[in-house]
Amino acid sequence: MTSVEPSSSGQPFGSKVTVYVVACWIFAAFGGLMFGYDIGISGGVTSMDDFLKKFFPAIYERKLHAKENNYCKYDDQLLQLFTSSLYLAALVASFGASKACNVLGRKPTISLASVLFTLGAVVSGTAPNKVLLIIGRILFGIGVGFGNESVPLFLSEVAPMQHRGAVNILFQLFVTIGILIANLVNYAVSSIHPNGWRIALGLAGVPAIFLFMGSLIITETPSSLIERGKEIEGKEALKKIRGVDDVESELEQIKLACEISRQVKHPYKKLFKRASMPPLIIGISIQVFQQFTGINAIMFYAPVLFQTVGFKGNGSLLSAVITGVVNVLSTLVSIVAVDRIGRRKLLLQACVQMFISMVAIGSILLIHLKPTGSLDKGLAAVVVVLVCMFVMSFAWSWGPMGWLIPSETFPLETRTAGFAFAVSANMFFTFVIAQAFLSMLCNMRAYIFFFFALWILIMGLFVVFLLPETKGVPIDSMTERVWKKHPVWRKFMGKEVVKNYEMT
Ligand code: BGC
Repeated sequence: MTSVEPSSSGQPFGSKVTVYVVACWIFAAFGGLMFGYDIGISGGVTSMDDFLKKFFPAIYERKLHAKENNYCKYDDQLLQLFTSSLYLAALVASFGASKACNVLGRKPTISLASVLFTLGAVVSGTAPNKVLLIIGRILFGIGVGFGNESVPLFLSEVAPMQHRGAVNILFQLFVTIGILIANLVNYAVSSIHPNGWRIALGLAGVPAIFLFMGSLIITETPSSLIERGKEIEGKEALKKIRGVDDVESELEQIKLACEISRQVKHPYKKLFKRASMPPLIIGISIQVFQQFTGINAIMFYAPVLFQTVGFKGNGSLLSAVITGVVNVLSTLVSIVAVDRIGRRKLLLQACVQMFISMVAIGSILLIHLKPTGSLDKGLAAVVVVLVCMFVMSFAWSWGPMGWLIPSETFPLETRTAGFAFAVSANMFFTFVIAQAFLSMLCNMRAYIFFFFALWILIMGLFVVFLLPETKGVPIDSMTERVWKKHPVWRKFMGKEVVKNYEMT
């Protein structure tokens, strides 16, 4: 497939999608599998009795005698903190990863991520005591921090502009596949006693090994090479990832971005200047909002909802498979749609669908689900459909866009630093929601769904008024073509520059 794309100056860039190019995209996307596998595996492992008996015997005892109802599931903050320690480690690590991306490049940072994650799998899977178990968890976290920082950036930088959305969303596609696989593994190992949990944690090494092998094959991104003064290698890399020899006009644009970038000695200082605020605010908000859609709460609560339909024993498996498959398939929709209809329309459509789903689930539960007892079968089936509608719309919008938009909106000089803030915002709010959700559910009951609906309304307004469209804009022309043009954000960019831009 050959295509031509316009540069910011209107000149076309040529590109061809070759086998090597596609291999680079897919290998890097294995970083998403690592992250997704971990999201899916943690909850399952920490609810396995063998695991609790070995590491958290007191919690196991309490769990045996805990009374549960539909809204107040047994909850242990310490156990939750153990699960969430990964997100805290990843939060801190993403800043180290940003430095590594700048100094070493994207490719070695991806290798490092896979090595750290593999170590995490080995240490966690073989842990004889709590200390090593926690060390394993932290290694996983650092691996996720390094992977989530470098992989989306890598994908956005190597993708030809007109396919950038689709290529970047391969990361999220692999996240969803990872979640699905992990849920199936959880189910399969839950009957293997006493070491099923070791298999589940150890298997996390598999995607990491794939990522490591892939990281040896992929090329470094041209921007990263040229920024570090390696112009000849940068040009060769550009030819490789474009599949054509004539890359001059795109090369010029990258060189210009690198020149500006090289003048910036302190990216973090620059990031807090007024002119850097627009992408920073957007990058962080989009990730915070992604978590406030309530996706992880819904996925977590889904097994309980599914059990009320009547699938008592298999409720968890069934919900994991149904929501997991819906999640994967709907992410494919966004791969096809994102570069055609754009980021904004997908996000807005999803806000409407998610809002309706949340309000409808909340209303049904509020009226019909008492703390004990269950829903009428017909209504429960409606709730299941609504959960799928919710997951579906998240999967083609806020899920992938949370990673895509922050990775493509920063200029090169603040890209890795700014993206680190977006990644850590995701990690922090995943942690906060995981930590608070069960107590919120217990106290707010069905109203929690209205709480998330309110957030969805706010994020819809945010998209309408503040989020610019980045579809079809070359990654190194965002400042000129996006930020300086936006009615709100242009005010941050400085008068003189806006004037110059208007003249061109
Ligand atoms: C989010 C995760 C979420 C997953 C669901 C990711 O983009 O960051 O928090 O669990 O999507 O597919």
